[in-house]
Amino acid sequence: MGAEPRLGPISIPITKSRLMTGLDRRFMPGLMHQPSVLFVCLGNICRSPLAEAAFRKEAQRMGLAVTVDSAGTGNWHVGSAPDLRACAQALRCGVDIAAYRARQVSRADFTRFTHIFALDANNLADLRTLRPADATAHLGLLLDEVPGHEGQSVADPYYGGREDFAQTWDEVTRAAKALVARLQAVA
Ligand code: 4NP
Repeated sequence: MGAEPRLGPISIPITKSRLMTGLDRRFMPGLMHQPSVLFVCLGNICRSPLAEAAFRKEAQRMGLAVTVDSAGTGNWHVGSAPDLRACAQALRCGVDIAAYRARQVSRADFTRFTHIFALDANNLADLRTLRPADATAHLGLLLDEVPGHEGQSVADPYYGGREDFAQTWDEVTRAAKALVARLQAVA
């Protein structure tokens, strides 16, 4: 899969196939709109770009129309490409993320996106602090989407090696598959 515009929706129409349950409504704050998902880690150069790539790949595979982006709570790497090890991991799995550029999460993201997922518990705490009063986005921990892994963080591979990036890819892919399936179920 080649590089794509990061904020451009995948142009496959959504069909509303069934009535929504109360649980669906809580999960889908912008329920009549196309979902838009933001993944957030610390630097936006390792975990959240991989989460964005895995989710983009799965959404495309499953034909889910969705807007996808990623950001960091910190600003150290703003404007930088993802870590080369993250680029290599994504490319091995068929996604070119070399054109991604790191940015810092903003208060506007809480109304711009329908869903914001933190990669770890520290990111989630920081996002809760940043969250404005008029926020509409669902805010949660990414691995809460994976049965049996609720409350867990995606480990930071920054000080690790190739196998750590492979494990990150594995974790974000499992979350991406669960999340795409859940979003599709209410589309
Ligand atoms: P990320 O990884 O939050 O998954 O992008 C990190 C990237 C950079 C740093 C820490 C974690 N850093 O300390 O610069």
